[in-house]
Amino acid sequence: MKTTTSTLVKPGVLSTIGRTPLIRLDNLFAGSGLEVFAKLEAFNPGGSMKDRPALRMVQEALAAGTLEPDSVIVESSSGNLAIGLAQVACALGLRLIVVVDPKITQANLKILRAYGVQIDTVNTPDPETGEYLSARRKRVSHLLASIPGAINLNQYANPDNPAAHRIGTASEILDALENSVDVLLVSVSTCGSLKGVRQALRERSLSPQLLAVDAAGSVIFGQRGPRLLAGHGAGIMPEHMSDDLADEGVLVTDADCVAGCRALVRREAILAGASSGGIVAAMARLRHRWAPGTRVAAIFPDRGERYLDTVFDDAWCMRHFGGVPPLFEPTEQNS
Ligand SMILES: Cc1ncc(COP(=O)(O)O)c(C=O)c1O
Repeated sequence: MKTTTSTLVKPGVLSTIGRTPLIRLDNLFAGSGLEVFAKLEAFNPGGSMKDRPALRMVQEALAAGTLEPDSVIVESSSGNLAIGLAQVACALGLRLIVVVDPKITQANLKILRAYGVQIDTVNTPDPETGEYLSARRKRVSHLLASIPGAINLNQYANPDNPAAHRIGTASEILDALENSVDVLLVSVSTCGSLKGVRQALRERSLSPQLLAVDAAGSVIFGQRGPRLLAGHGAGIMPEHMSDDLADEGVLVTDADCVAGCRALVRREAILAGASSGGIVAAMARLRHRWAPGTRVAAIFPDRGERYLDTVFDDAWCMRHFGGVPPLFEPTEQNS
């Protein structure tokens, strides 16, 4: 058998996680004098930035011996982290049980099944709180207690979640921009990426304005209300969050995300997920604050295909917003 030594051949899919491209957005803010950059996390093999914490949490748990090759990982997640973990577990031959509820999208359910994940569905909300989230947490506790060697990686509190972004996402952005950036935008849910970015900035003694873009209705900046789109936003305050992470929180609605996503694909040919649209909407709203020459960078967390039945579906928009949110012209709107 021939063994190739070419550096063009990668050793396995997990080796392709990270080192995603940072691109300049030339069209969305054309004429504004701003320099705008986007970190395209869709280029991770599992399609989102969550590949990074998924890999790091598993690797570190294996190294520490808290996770063994015959252990079972039990997680309550139905989104990008679940898919990231499914990819890692599949590649490393580990068992993964994902606890989901009926609100999981069909697309994500099918992706998880394709990786061979064991799906455990909680069908009724928690009788005490009326919420699925607490019902899923209780189910996770039950599985952890009843399956020998079961382990929960808990992205909400696990330090390897922010570490993956400190060492990876944030450092890659800062290296690419040679530490020269004035404004950074990060969308938030577990706040792992926000915390990792803040840690990387502190390590390099840099202090650009760090903006956390959150879903209207999420508890992170003190709201509580219905949200349609998954990804960013949180229903309980994540343990990673603290007051010293973001310089400011920026709230975006579901309709803002749709308008931003649609502007992004039409103007830049980037088909990205809802939270990336939220970032674009936040930039469009805030850009009048930034003088020409300001360098703005943002993380675009995932790819858009998982949102074809929501963000990019006109009938879905009609049902929820009474129409398709207008494709704004960020530069004209704010000039
Ligand atoms: C699409 C998307 N955007 C943003 C976020 C927020 O990232 P973090 O959990 O690092 O705060 C997530 C987290 O799952 C996500 O899936």
